[in-house]
Amino acid sequence: MPMRSFAAVFAISACAAGLAAGVAGCRSLPPSKPASQWTLQEARGAQVFQRDCARCHYPTTTAGLHGPGLQALTKQQAMPSGAPPTDERLADTILHGHGTMPATQINDNDLRDLIVYLHTL
Ligand code: HEC
Repeated sequence: MPMRSFAAVFAISACAAGLAAGVAGCRSLPPSKPASQWTLQEARGAQVFQRDCARCHYPTTTAGLHGPGLQALTKQQAMPSGAPPTDERLADTILHGHGTMPATQINDNDLRDLIVYLHTL
């Protein structure tokens, strides 16, 4: 619960900062599924994300950290590279890296859970 409200406050302030800076698109993105509604698999995927991805990507905003923020990743036509956010493409990006993003060592179960979680963003 405290984690969730922190995330919400963070997302809102990142959004406000983006609007103040004139960044478009902030308001039009669908919100991420709240943690209280995650399935067990989504919750497991969220832990994988914390372990392997969170140091470089914010999950609930499109603001960049080391890589682009991943809010609404799978609900959009294209990822920042222009490639469609299909499960195959996501698995390929995670397993082999992309541009300056390094490859991630991850087992099949964790990869499946992680991709399911990415659909909640
Ligand atoms: C060391 C930092 C780092 C880590 C760890 C990392 N990424 Fe990335 N990621 C990046 C950078 C940088 C980019 C932009 C790469 C580029 O396009 O040159 C990126 C891009 C992406 C993209 C967009 C790809 C596209 O086609 O536009 C996705 C999706 C992504 N990362 C997902 C993940 C996931 C899921 C994880 C966890 C398994 C992860 N990343 C771990 C740095 C990282």
